[in-house]
Amino acid sequence: MIAIIGGSGLSQLSNLDITRREVVRTPYGEPSGALLFGHLCDQQTVFIARHGYGHTIPPHGVNYRANLWALKEAGAKEIISVASVGGIQDHLGPGVLMVPDQIIDYTWGRKATYFDGVDGPVVHVDFTDPYDASLRARILAAARNAGEAIVDGGTYAATQGPRLETAAEVTRLERDGAHVIGMTGMPEAVLARELGIPYAAIVVVVNQAAGRGSSAHGIQMADIEATAKTAMVRVHNVLQHFCTN
Ligand code: HPA
Repeated sequence: MIAIIGGSGLSQLSNLDITRREVVRTPYGEPSGALLFGHLCDQQTVFIARHGYGHTIPPHGVNYRANLWALKEAGAKEIISVASVGGIQDHLGPGVLMVPDQIIDYTWGRKATYFDGVDGPVVHVDFTDPYDASLRARILAAARNAGEAIVDGGTYAATQGPRLETAAEVTRLERDGAHVIGMTGMPEAVLARELGIPYAAIVVVVNQAAGRGSSAHGIQMADIEATAKTAMVRVHNVLQHFCTN
């Protein structure tokens, strides 16, 4: 069973033929919404919208522990996250797709572990490579087969949000080695690792980061939404080829 976590712009997976919808509870509370079960090509797939189906949950308000736990309980053997990001460097402009290979976590105050020492032992998971290498490779192969250009590797800076960054913050993130900026990559990735589920992400650049290029004088939500709409069609195409492989 493949799990797909849809972000902003992907609260529905139009090529998923839904057979079942399940509202679940977890020891960590309620997930963002019902789990949607169905088939993508012939593969059993479970989908959840990270921000809820009406996009009402902000990045810092997502119950990441409940979402990941629910997907594991549902039988997910691998998880593909789809998320929108801002691109820092010029070649990472609106519409670019990327499969990142590294993360820097700037988030704070989120419930970011199952191993908080309350009910069980303290465990320090290895997180050297935060994304699963073989799942990444299969997504990249699917994109090639789909004829969709996609950037192989890059560092995802996870910021707290919900506000966008200042221009100076973007300069700092670039100095740190980041290529794209998003608000939901963490703790999602580490929770998947703690549960032992291979996890990788397809990120969609929906805007140039604050202070850069077309965002030199501000970022317009209407532009982001228009870019996300067309780019998500290409993400669907990649996912379609992922599951037929
Ligand atoms: N910054 C942070 N998160 C984002 C951005 C951004 O510019 N665009 C989409 N998600």
